[in-house]
Amino acid sequence: MTKSDYYADVLQAAEYIRSQVTDIPDACLVLGSGLGPLTDRVETISEIPYENIPHFPRTTVAGHDGKLLVAKLSGKLTFIMKGRFHYYEGYSTQEATFYVRVMATLGVKTLVMTNAAGGINTDMKPSELMVITDHIGLFCDSPLRGKNLDEFGPRFPDQTRVYDSGLSDLLKASAKELGITLHQGVYAYTRGPQYETPAEIRALKILGADAVGMSTVAEAIAASHCGMRILAVSCITNFAAGISGQPLSHAEVMENANASSKNSIALMEKFFSKL
Ligand code: HPA
Repeated sequence: MTKSDYYADVLQAAEYIRSQVTDIPDACLVLGSGLGPLTDRVETISEIPYENIPHFPRTTVAGHDGKLLVAKLSGKLTFIMKGRFHYYEGYSTQEATFYVRVMATLGVKTLVMTNAAGGINTDMKPSELMVITDHIGLFCDSPLRGKNLDEFGPRFPDQTRVYDSGLSDLLKASAKELGITLHQGVYAYTRGPQYETPAEIRALKILGADAVGMSTVAEAIAASHCGMRILAVSCITNFAAGISGQPLSHAEVMENANASSKNSIALMEKFFSKL
């Protein structure tokens, strides 16, 4: 796909969304595993199935719905992405981050992402939460590869502060008020869909990773290129491969994501009430 096709597609998708909503929120929340039930607790104003949005990819993961909501979350008008796109589903990182460019085009300033991750740092126990301070994206195809989209940002964007410390301070304050344990650390990206080997986890640990997962990084790169403020939170759903000696399973990941759902939802609600 040439640059102009991609940019034209972004503009068309943004135009469609604009035609469907009255007010454009200035934040977008991307729901990861376990946070789905949050949508039952918000005041939904508009609901747009992804398949209605021109050029939007479809989600292929079971349990991921595929719709964009405009909703009031703790009184704050917010875009909520129910279902996201992963490289392991077969999308390129350009496709997986298409929505980020659409949000930026609509004028959204803040991107809040949640995800499930394996814990490498053993201070963190399954079902606890970690705010991402930085990432290791060495294995991530850059969503910025190819001709630069100057409309969004520079050819060689700085990555010194991808995650916004003001937003993470707000999240920490929210966690403290609620008495929820919130770790902080470095998230390493792997392409998946296979989980890592124990040797890979040992290597990632040496590289400085506290947690590992298969999402978020490409989106954070695209959003930082667009100058968005980014917050990302991982739900630690399991000890990473080789740490407990037990095999990893999607069932365990979902079980712990669901076990932490109450805390993740309460934390997001408190955070948005302060935003
Ligand atoms: N590895 C990669 N992705 C994950 C994991 C993991 O251990 N747990 C949840 N998502």
